[in-house]
Amino acid sequence: MTQKKRTLSGIKPTGNPHLGNYLGFLKPALAMQKDYETFYFIADYHALTTVTKPEDLRESTYDLVAVFAALGMDFEKNTFFRQSDVPEVTELTWLLSCVTPMGMLERAHAYKDAKAKGKEDELNHGVFAYPVLMAADIIIYNSHYVPVGKDQKQHLEMTRDIAQRFNHLYGETFVIPEPRIEEDVATIPGVDGRKMSKSYGNEIPLFSTEKQLRKVVMRIVTDSKTVEEPKDPDQCNVFQIFRQFADKAQQEHWRKRYTEGGMGYGEIKQATFEAIDAEIREYREKYFAVREDKARLDDILAQGALKARKVAQEVVLKARKNVGLS
Ligand code: ADP
Ligand code: TRP
Repeated sequence: MTQKKRTLSGIKPTGNPHLGNYLGFLKPALAMQKDYETFYFIADYHALTTVTKPEDLRESTYDLVAVFAALGMDFEKNTFFRQSDVPEVTELTWLLSCVTPMGMLERAHAYKDAKAKGKEDELNHGVFAYPVLMAADIIIYNSHYVPVGKDQKQHLEMTRDIAQRFNHLYGETFVIPEPRIEEDVATIPGVDGRKMSKSYGNEIPLFSTEKQLRKVVMRIVTDSKTVEEPKDPDQCNVFQIFRQFADKAQQEHWRKRYTEGGMGYGEIKQATFEAIDAEIREYREKYFAVREDKARLDDILAQGALKARKVAQEVVLKARKNVGLS
């Protein structure tokens, strides 16, 4: 049997995951378990660039372990861990920093956005160095594929660039990874129509009560067309979310309802709520059950840390040797 290729990805523990995270990252990433050896982790070092309350970091970390458990991560066959349980990644970050041009980091969207906002307190060195730590995260596990949402594309380009520079300078050391971006999902809008994001506070949480879910879906902004008027599903935020949870026939049915006129936005919102609920109901129950069981969550992390660290240590040793460290 040939060795399976490896996929790796991470998500920051910065609050409750939302439907954008689920559709753009969690769902496709977890589906890859079928064909790949997967390494997924909680990017807590990265979260420190913005999270300053230790308790929030700890609780959000547990939330994410429970999310992966609920969505069917196979912790035995695959590797699931917390980034900071493998401190070797910070050493590799340094080795990579020394081959990373400042100009590249100055062009990073996240850094540029933070700078444009002009908030000095949000502009720490961690924000600037973020892409280097991310490159280390990826190549320290000899990863072939990295499933992420579209907004991470630039980070992946930088990772490849940094890894190639290192290989060029010090000889073949790292596997050059490729992004896997779900083009059909691309960017999921939030309730206000902008990209769904924790930083905009416009998210639909992946796991909340049925009642809360319905309430948020009802808040999605639409235009002010009357019930009678024909509407354009492709311009509608509600439909962009609905279609992710509906099969072809349901999508066609509702497309017709939009274009024929006679459909109020309340109706498609109700259908959207029902479609989301039908898909996630079973996961939600698992999520709330496992979230209570901290001992189990700690076990999952401990088991993953051992497996991840073993791979990371080998790769860092090779990198150290190649640059001339003892
Ligand atoms: P946020 O923007 O809410 O802070 P993160 O940056 O933590 O989300 O994203 C975690 C993962 O989810 C990334 O792979 C990212 O690309 C994906 N993702 C986040 N928001 C969306 C969205 N609105 N649509 C599609 N994918 C998304
Ligand atoms: N930067 C990613 C995000 O904001 C999280 C992340 C950190 C990541 N390290 C990674 C994603 C390595 C993929 C691979 O969503």
